Amino acid sequence: MSDVLISPPISARQSQVPAPIRLAVLASGKGSNLAAIASAIARGDLNATIQVVIYNNPEAGVVQKAAHYGIPTVLLNHRTFDSREALDQAIIDTVKAYQADWVIMAGWMRRVTDVLINAFPQRVLNIHPSLLPSFPGVRAVEQALAAGTKITGCTVHYVELVVDSGPIIMQAAVPVLPDDTPATLQARIQVQEHQIYPAAIAIAAATS
Ligand code: GAR
Repeated sequence: MSDVLISPPISARQSQVPAPIRLAVLASGKGSNLAAIASAIARGDLNATIQVVIYNNPEAGVVQKAAHYGIPTVLLNHRTFDSREALDQAIIDTVKAYQADWVIMAGWMRRVTDVLINAFPQRVLNIHPSLLPSFPGVRAVEQALAAGTKITGCTVHYVELVVDSGPIIMQAAVPVLPDDTPATLQARIQVQEHQIYPAAIAIAAATS
């Protein structure tokens, strides 16, 4: 009797390919990390889609970056909300309306509350421009320079209530050069951020 090779039906084969994870990106600034994530997706390095970009600052350059990649944007101006919790609830509603299930803070300069963190357990990520737990909070690059550290870097971590705490997923180290200014050091840190954020999202998704 000859061997018979039976292929699984197309639908069964497709079901073995993991579905792309659906991201909502929160950004307040120029959006270079958004662009890095979108470009990793376009290259096929990250199996994800960016369903929506939420921004809080009407002037944020991230809007142009999102438009370049054809990603919808939603402005949630924090000044129009009575409390952090009310802003977080609007974020949750928007993330759900756009059918995303991961919240990716990419230069989101607002503190978040338990309202957001509890809505997406283990699915809220942040990037910070230092080697946490060193230099949490604002002006991390300036803090590292002022402290005279010779090495700094960037960190991707799960978000917990305490600002810039939470389990670390990935870090990259960046040497501090003798003539560094905040701008030159930040530029080199951002090169590393753009490498590790897409990779860290993939690791988080693979281990969720
Ligand atoms: C990034 O360098 C990120 O690490 C920092 O904001 C920048 C946003 O840049 N985030 C924080 O400082 C959060 N504490 P981008 O708008 O070009 O992505």
